[in-house]
Amino acid sequence: MREVRGAVIEAAGRPTAVETLLLDDPRPGEVLVRMTASGVCHSDLHVRDGDWDRPGPIVLGHEGAGVIEAVGAGLDPAVVGRPVALSWYAPCLRCRECQRGRQWLCLGSPSLRHAQADGTTRLQRQDGSPVLAYLSIGTFAEAQVVPASAVIPMPDGVPPEVAALIGCGVSTGVGAVVKTAEVPAGSTVAVIGVGGVGLSCVMGAVLAGARRIIAVDVSRAKLDLAADLGATDWIQADAANPAATVDAIRTAAGDGGPDFVFEAIGTPATIAQAIAALPPGGTAVLVGLTRFGELAAFEAFPFVDGGRRITGSNYGSAVAAVDFPRYADAYLAGRLPVDRLIDRRLPLDDLEDAFDRLRAGQAARQVVLFE
Ligand SMILES: NC(=O)c1ccc[n+]([C@@H]2O[C@H](COP(=O)([O-])OP(=O)(O)OC[C@H]3O[C@@H](n4cnc5c(N)ncnc54)[C@H](O)[C@@H]3O)[C@@H](O)[C@H]2O)c1
Ligand SMILES: [Zn+2]
Ligand SMILES: [Zn+2]
Repeated sequence: MREVRGAVIEAAGRPTAVETLLLDDPRPGEVLVRMTASGVCHSDLHVRDGDWDRPGPIVLGHEGAGVIEAVGAGLDPAVVGRPVALSWYAPCLRCRECQRGRQWLCLGSPSLRHAQADGTTRLQRQDGSPVLAYLSIGTFAEAQVVPASAVIPMPDGVPPEVAALIGCGVSTGVGAVVKTAEVPAGSTVAVIGVGGVGLSCVMGAVLAGARRIIAVDVSRAKLDLAADLGATDWIQADAANPAATVDAIRTAAGDGGPDFVFEAIGTPATIAQAIAALPPGGTAVLVGLTRFGELAAFEAFPFVDGGRRITGSNYGSAVAAVDFPRYADAYLAGRLPVDRLIDRRLPLDDLEDAFDRLRAGQAARQVVLFE
């Protein structure tokens, strides 16, 4: 048992407060990780703002990296001291989807319950009441006990904040392009919303050899960053005039519209734009997550008549144990400049301010650094 500081919300929709919690030792199949960095992803903000119903009290954070401090019985203690990135969807490795290699669809992940495999949590308040860990990893804490299948060793030379971003935004965005959609070289690609996830889609489109990469955002600063990362065209969207954005995307792409449109915001309006911008045969890849219960609409006749497609992309179809080291290698080789996404480093106590900036669209990726 040790004391750790962690950012807790009492329930979805409530602000975070940094508390000193008690963390139990790892049990069989579990790993104690001292956190080094945790990115601030919009999915944390969805919970913080009550867009998604989640149980509480819970330590937020799911884009994390750290160092292995201890392992539970049955695991090899030689891994102590290894730097790791954490997967926010710990696969059970036994269910039908895991057996098929589709771990991002695991049916038995403890992450669904924000607890360990046995359904209990290793975190508690000073009064002994349990505290959950978001997606079983709750990375806005100085240390966590997590399922062993969530712990992915990183190659030497990967900075903690880069490893953290590989844990969500990079795998989600790059993987949506290269794994979920398998974008062929020479394609035209548009990305609507170039925050941390959308910028990763842009990097993925560069890796895939896309011919044109059209970045779309309301923020001029984000578009400048997208251009630095390899976008060939940029469109400053006016949220009040969605039809103009669709026209601008189609014009920039030529040939009736882009082969692929990635939506990386998660609003019904921008999902509709992604679908409306497609030419016949085009594919809309939905990456952004809406509030629970929201519907998106599109006109059915031209969609069917034009043989268009819509696909959802969860976690960039990541098999973390395989893909995280690949993305890390691509970073080390200079082909995936993950560090360029980071525009602010902050202590855990400034998390609410980071959420304010993210909500206002003022940040690309902010990263909490631990001592
Ligand atoms: N599918 C997955 O597995 C997965 C994983 C991680 C995150 N997500 C989701 O992806 C989404 C994006 O996450 P993020 O961390 O990059 O968020 P973010 O807030 O950093 O990025 C959103 C971007 O959209 C822009 N934007 C907002 N409204 C717009 C509009 N009307 N037109 C054009 N641009 C607009 C903002 O300026 C911002 O740059 C969130 O919904 C998040 O929950 C999905
Ligand atoms: Zn995320
Ligand atoms: Zn499984």
